[in-house]
Amino acid sequence: MKDKILVIGSSGQIGTELVETLRSQYGVSNVVASDLKAPETPGDGPFEALDVTDNQRLLAVVKKHGVTQVYLLAALLSATAEKNPLFAWNLNMAGLLNVLELGREKLISRIYWPSSIAVFGPNTPSDLTPQFTIMEPSTVYGISKQAGERWCEYYFQKYGVDVRSLRYPGLVGWKSAPGGGTTDYAVHIFHEALKSKTYECFLSADTALPMMYMPDALRATLELMQADPAKVKIRSSYNLAGISFSPKEIAAEIKKHIPDFMMTYKPDYRQQIADTWPHSIDDSHSRQDWGWNPAYSLDKMTREMLTNLDKVMKNSCNL
Ligand code: NAD
Ligand code: SER
Repeated sequence: MKDKILVIGSSGQIGTELVETLRSQYGVSNVVASDLKAPETPGDGPFEALDVTDNQRLLAVVKKHGVTQVYLLAALLSATAEKNPLFAWNLNMAGLLNVLELGREKLISRIYWPSSIAVFGPNTPSDLTPQFTIMEPSTVYGISKQAGERWCEYYFQKYGVDVRSLRYPGLVGWKSAPGGGTTDYAVHIFHEALKSKTYECFLSADTALPMMYMPDALRATLELMQADPAKVKIRSSYNLAGISFSPKEIAAEIKKHIPDFMMTYKPDYRQQIADTWPHSIDDSHSRQDWGWNPAYSLDKMTREMLTNLDKVMKNSCNL
């Protein structure tokens, strides 16, 4: 049977790029994008307005398009979730359980749901954080991701639902804007460096966090989803590593290209969140089980980010 894919939360930072990548592999008409509202500039392929917490509407969309696989991206991220904890908990949990139920009822055959480095907490070993370790997340976002991981493993073990997951680090890309996370500074910094050559960072200079360039994250996602089921041995969520850097280190890298770039620091409530997260991740299970190998260094990512964003900004000025 041909795969028919539904991406839920398709207008966000990851969804915007994931839909494009999936359509290039599976064909435009085989990838249905969905989000609360239609995007301002609709793409070529099918789109459905969908609130993932509405299980009847979700079922109708799945049946209408004969969906076989769901990529569930709709969630509230760490910083936004702290401002509205119960709303975040309800969205992050109800969305996942609605999709897992589709798997249990055999209406779909495979599910992708991202977890996060936010599942770890202040008592977790913070350097090269192992796959299996103390977690104890202290944000509502992290609590919802940890609970989500338990549900994924439960649905796999009890009902055989083929659900796959990665603990993404903070993602950095130039095609879409980040949606309210603690790692968003690592995207904003590039925009501001090109626009004004200054950036006021909301994390302190030495706050090292695990990060990843979007093309690596998209490749990891598709490699995991296309892996032989026997190779997917972890059904909670896999640790995934790309690069780790602090605001000071990324600023120094940008300065190599924009020598008069100036960074200032004004840590806010997001500093407390970042202080509970790992500095770097051990992803050896991903490497062993399904062959993960990241391609981007800080240097390579910085060059690509600046080159591509510069082109985007020049094009928008010429419009
Ligand atoms: P985002 O905030 O940019 O996008 C989320 C999208 O979901 C938005 O377009 C939003 O409109 C949509 N949405 C919200 N509520 C919805 C609902 N009820 N029904 C349908 N759609 C709804 O987030 P993102 O950065 O693209 O993250 C996607 C997933 O990846 C999330 O689960 C997030 O936790 C996870 N993740 C992201 C990162 C990162 O750095 N971006 C890191 C770790 C994990
Ligand atoms: N980038 C995400 C956040 O900061 C990590 O899950 O919320």
